[in-house]
Amino acid sequence: MISFQLQGKRALVTGAASGIGLATAELLARSGATVALNDLPNNPLLDEHVNRLKNQGFNVFAAPGNVADPASVNTLFESAITTLGGLDYLVNNAGTPGTREPVAPDNFGIQDEAFWQKLLNINLQGPARCTAAAVNALRQSGGAIVNTASTAGLIGNGSSAVYAATKAGLIALTKEHARALGPDIRVNAIAPGIVESDWECRFELPQSALDTVPLQRKGQPEEFAEAIVYLLCAGSYITGHVLVLDGGLMAGTRDTQLSL
Ligand SMILES: NC(=O)c1ccc[n+]([C@@H]2O[C@H](COP(=O)([O-])OP(=O)(O)OC[C@H]3O[C@@H](n4cnc5c(N)ncnc54)[C@H](O)[C@@H]3O)[C@@H](O)[C@H]2O)c1
Repeated sequence: MISFQLQGKRALVTGAASGIGLATAELLARSGATVALNDLPNNPLLDEHVNRLKNQGFNVFAAPGNVADPASVNTLFESAITTLGGLDYLVNNAGTPGTREPVAPDNFGIQDEAFWQKLLNINLQGPARCTAAAVNALRQSGGAIVNTASTAGLIGNGSSAVYAATKAGLIALTKEHARALGPDIRVNAIAPGIVESDWECRFELPQSALDTVPLQRKGQPEEFAEAIVYLLCAGSYITGHVLVLDGGLMAGTRDTQLSL
């Protein structure tokens, strides 16, 4: 585990009540930063984790709001940036598969207009509108953004084709924002493979399937958090980059040997 010295830094993490977002908020706080944890207003885990971290002596507070709702985003960012006294780091991590089970790419019944709108709004427009709400504060501090994409946005094969398309869009947005916001703000993405989290879409992967991945296991939220915090505060010549964290998944399965 790398250690970071982030005293005086101010961060906002969306989707921070569980999984990768929570681990990232915790690592930022443990490293000395003041952290606004965002999640949906009706998610009881948000206050639970904020109170737990406060009781441990960390500088954190809840910034509830829905990244899919423009008015909610404006209110939460205005309030959080005022409380923080500025902003150094934004982590656009909130996301949804919109389904409890994987959907076949040609299942047009489930992937209807409402499904498209929901996933586009949360997974793609959400990061775009949070970035817009944070950009002035980040320019002032010379800050950094990390977006949580997915290997699904690079090779597909996630919870649905629509989900993969939103994450591919987020990768494109990362590069566009990196071009537009440099040199003031660095913008990068991580692309997780298989994650051990409370993700709504349950992939019941048997160990035999995991054994085909080179590292033979899922990634832990803390492993993704470490990469996010590295890109935020240490990767000073890295922007427009997508850091793949997939245990080797995209290198090919261990049981496949092509004779070329
Ligand atoms: N779990 C995986 O297998 C996996 C793989 C690749 C990428 N990802 C991405 O990682 C990110 C984090 O996922 P996770 O695995 O930690 O899952 P998670 O379900 O543990 O965390 C996601 C959090 O986002 C919050 N959220 C959802 N919609 C929101 C909204 N509209 N506004 C604010 N908050 C909202 C949820 O309440 C939840 O707390 C997501 O963007 C996801 O797409 C996950």
